Amino acid sequence: MKQQRHPGVGGFPALMGVVVACAGLLFGPASSHAQMKAADIQKAVDAAYAKYKDSKDGKNADYIPALAKVDSKIYGIALVTPDGKMYTAGDLKSEVSIQSISKVFTLAYVMAQSGPEAILNNMGVDATGQVFNSINAIEQYKGAEMNPLVNPGAITTTSMVQGGNRAEVWKKILDYHSDFAGRTLTVNEEVFKSEAETNQRNQAIAQLMYAYGHIKDKPLEACDIYTEQCAISVNAKDLGVMAATLANGGKNPVSGKQVLDAKLVPDVLAVMATAGMYDDSGKWLYRTGLPAKSGVGGGVIAVSPGKFGIAVISPPLDAAGNSVRAQNAIADISNALGGNPYWSAAK
Ligand code: DON
Repeated sequence: MKQQRHPGVGGFPALMGVVVACAGLLFGPASSHAQMKAADIQKAVDAAYAKYKDSKDGKNADYIPALAKVDSKIYGIALVTPDGKMYTAGDLKSEVSIQSISKVFTLAYVMAQSGPEAILNNMGVDATGQVFNSINAIEQYKGAEMNPLVNPGAITTTSMVQGGNRAEVWKKILDYHSDFAGRTLTVNEEVFKSEAETNQRNQAIAQLMYAYGHIKDKPLEACDIYTEQCAISVNAKDLGVMAATLANGGKNPVSGKQVLDAKLVPDVLAVMATAGMYDDSGKWLYRTGLPAKSGVGGGVIAVSPGKFGIAVISPPLDAAGNSVRAQNAIADISNALGGNPYWSAAK
C-alpha cells in the first residue's frame, strides 16, 4: 500500500496552509481556517472508508464462539478532535464487544486509583513480542517484565481495581468506561456468556499470575470481571470519543468531564505505543507513530495527542488479532492529516 508518511507542515498538509491563507484574504482567517481543516479531515475519512469498503482480507475471531457470528461487513469510522467535532463514515450504529480495548481504560483506572508505580512494580510495561495470551511470556519472567495490555497483565490489572466486592469493582470499571465514552455503556450478555464458557486458557493465566504473586486474591473472580469488561458493547462513535479523551489530556471533549488526570495520559499512551497492537506493535508504530489499541471484536482506537482520537470498527482480523480494515483506514487517515507525533519540521 502506498503511504504518505510525512505529508504535513505543523501537522496538516502544507497545501492546506496556502489555501487557508488565500481564503483568509476573502473571508477572514479564523473562520476559513476552521472550515478548511474540517473539510480536509472529512475528505481523509471518506477516502479511507471508500478505499477499504470492499476489502475481503481477514477473518472474524472465532475462538470466542459469539464473535464468529458478528456481521463481517460492519465498518464504521469516527474521528473526534479535541474541540469535540466528529468526522464519521460508514456504520456508526452497530455495536461490537470492546474486547482488549477495555484493557486501556481499566489500566487508566488503576493508575488513577493507585498511581503509575503500582503497574510498573507489578507486571511492568515491557512488550512481550509474543501473542496476547501467551503462557510462555508469563513463564519467562515469572509474570513480571510484561504489560497491562496482554492478557496476563490485563487480568492482573483488573484484579488491582479496589472495591469492597465483585459488584462494586464491576460498577467502577463500567462507570469509568462510560465516562470515557460520554454515555452509559452496557454489556453484550451473549458475548460475556460465550467467552465465560470458553475462557479456560485465561483462567489458567489468572491462576499462574496468582501463583507468581502478581494477583493477590481471587484470581478466577478477576478473570471473570475481566471477561465481562471485554464484553462491553460499543459503536464506532463511542470508541472515537474514548480515543479523543486520551488525545485531549484526559478530558472528554464531548461531555467536558475530566476523566483521567492529564499527567497520567502519557503513561497510558506509552503502554499503548509499545504493546497496543500486540506482537505487531512495532510494525504499527513504524507505520503510523500512533499509540493504539485493538480488540478481537474488530475495534481499533488510535491517538494523535492534541490533534485527534480515531476509532474504526470492522470485525475481520489479521493473524496478530488486529482488524485489517481498521489498521489500513487509520494509517491512511492519520498519514493524510500529519497525525504522526514523531514528525517535526526542520527549522
Ligand atoms: O481475553 C481474550 O482473549 C479476549 N477477551 C480479548 C482478546 C483481545 O481482544 C485481543 N485483541 N486483539
